[in-house]
Amino acid sequence: MDQPVKVQYKPLSSACGVEILGLDLRENLPQQTIDEIRALWNQYIVLVFRNQTITEDEQLRFAGKFGDLGERKAPPEELKERTTGVLQNDQRVMLVSNKMLEGKPVGSFGDGDMWYHIDSGYAKNPYTYTFLYGVELPSEGGNTLFGNMYKAYDSLSQDLKDKLAGQKALHIHQYERRARVDISGDISKIPHWFHPVFVTHPESGRKSLFVDRLMTQRIEGVSHDESEAILEELYAAGENPENVYEHEWELGDFVMWDNRCAIHGRTWFDPQEPRLLRRCTIEGGPLYEELSDYPQNQSA
Ligand code: OGA
Ligand code: MN
Repeated sequence: MDQPVKVQYKPLSSACGVEILGLDLRENLPQQTIDEIRALWNQYIVLVFRNQTITEDEQLRFAGKFGDLGERKAPPEELKERTTGVLQNDQRVMLVSNKMLEGKPVGSFGDGDMWYHIDSGYAKNPYTYTFLYGVELPSEGGNTLFGNMYKAYDSLSQDLKDKLAGQKALHIHQYERRARVDISGDISKIPHWFHPVFVTHPESGRKSLFVDRLMTQRIEGVSHDESEAILEELYAAGENPENVYEHEWELGDFVMWDNRCAIHGRTWFDPQEPRLLRRCTIEGGPLYEELSDYPQNQSA
């Protein structure tokens, strides 16, 4: 068999993101190509493939080369009607859409803007990766924004890094797209988890800021007011336009990102215009602040 050619790519912004050139994701790509894609992913966080024509099965096959496919998380009974999409038949696939069928949403995430978040950051095991394929797009807006959280971490003052080292934050999700969660009452029925404020990416070995505006609600171990002030500073670091790549979708775009070192959000679009993207994910494990904390790095 011919040796696979080296994967070609070009940068999309100075923040993060590269476009991968010359690959057809319908093909059963050789392991060497997959390894190169993974290496680029670890370096650039967001990968974009243009002009793809890919079925659901082909998407799942390609994504599955990067780990175990994630299943959609079941929301608590109370929040179910916010998430049920009538055309979402496969637990591994989410339709990100504002479209309706007989008065019911076909998928999830509706319309309008979405605050920055980390996919399933409120879970003990957040998805490592998300893959999104553009099927139907509005004439403008609905861009996906990606914040490079390595850069966000690097940009923090040494004082803040010292203060937050070893601290955790509460991530909680009420299935809203642009609202904070009221945590003053009982949160036991709202999905939530505590993660380190800073996590080390187990593959790149780099430290990133693991905080987002939509789901990270409280820094542990400080007063409410101090938590609010610190969170605002951390949200702003992640959302700093200098560290953000804004993806303007074209039909056939296939975009994949790493949730351990990126936050993402969405710009507004006209709710009258249909938008549909097909999403799948890869299951992850717990996140740790130091590389040496990961179980696989601990000797006996
Ligand atoms: C997602 C998501 C943003 C978008 O699929 O996880 O956040 O642009 N999508 O719709
Ligand atoms: Mn998301």
